[in-house]
Amino acid sequence: MNNSAPRVLVFDSGVGSLSIGREIHSRLPALNLLYALDSAGFPYGEWDENKLTEHICTTVMALVEQTKPDLMVLACNSASTAVLPALRQKLSIPVVGVVPAIKPAAKLSRSGVIGLLATPGTVRRPYTAQLITDFAQNCTVISVGNAELAPAIERLYWSGDQAESLYARIADTFAQHPRCNEMDTLVLACTHFPLIAGELSKHFPGVHLIDSGEAIARRVEQLLAPQTGGGHAEQRALIIGDRPFSETFRQRLQALGIEHVVRISVR
Ligand code: DGL
Repeated sequence: MNNSAPRVLVFDSGVGSLSIGREIHSRLPALNLLYALDSAGFPYGEWDENKLTEHICTTVMALVEQTKPDLMVLACNSASTAVLPALRQKLSIPVVGVVPAIKPAAKLSRSGVIGLLATPGTVRRPYTAQLITDFAQNCTVISVGNAELAPAIERLYWSGDQAESLYARIADTFAQHPRCNEMDTLVLACTHFPLIAGELSKHFPGVHLIDSGEAIARRVEQLLAPQTGGGHAEQRALIIGDRPFSETFRQRLQALGIEHVVRISVR
C-alpha cells in the first residue's frame, strides 16, 4: 500500500467492481484500490429490495470497519438504485453510487430511442423509472431486464466460459420492440456488462454503448483530488465467500494490475 494515498473501496456482488475500478485506476493511479467482490451474495439483481438493503449495509459496514477506506463506491446498479440512502446514513465516509447512465444517453441520442440493459431488479426499481421521467421524458426507452448475463460474465471471469449465444438472444429481445431499428444508444446498466462491451457491440451494430464508469471516476477525482498525489499505488481484490480462486480468475485480475487476491470474512 502507498500509505500516503487515499484508499477507495469499490464494492459489488462480483466482477462488476472491476469495470468501475479500472476506470478509477486509469484516471487516478495513485489511489489505493480495494475491489470487494461479494460472491457469497451474488446475484443482487434477484434479491428483494429490503433484504438487499439489510445485507449490503451489514456487509459494507463490516468491510469498512476492517479496511478503513477514505471513500467507497457502491459499484452496482442493482444495489445503488435500492440501498444508497440507507447506506449513506450508516457510514461517515463519502459513498459514490453507480446508477443507470440514462441522462447522458438521452443527451447523446439523436433518434430519441435508447435501450436500457440491466438486471431485472434495476429495471423494476422506482429509482430507474424516476431517472427516465427526469432525464429521458422525450425518449422511447426500450428496457430489457436480463437475469442470465451477469452470471455468464462471472463464469467468463472465473472459468473462461464464453456466452456468445446469450448475447445474440439479448439482441433478439431488443429487436422485438417495434422501434428497435431506431435505437442508437444502449445503456449498459449493470457494472458487469462493460466487461464484455466489445463482444456485445457486435450484436448491436451502429449503436453507441454507454455506461457510468468514466463519470464515476470523475466523481471520485472531485472528492479526493487534493489528496491523490502521484505514482502508482496498490490494487487488491477482497473476495467474500468460499469460491476457490481459479487460475483464470487470477490471470484476469493480473491483466488489470491487481496482484493481490485475498479472501475476507465479514461475519
Ligand atoms: N453488477 C451488478 C449491477 O451493476 C449486477 C450483478 C448482480 O445481479 O449481482 O447491477
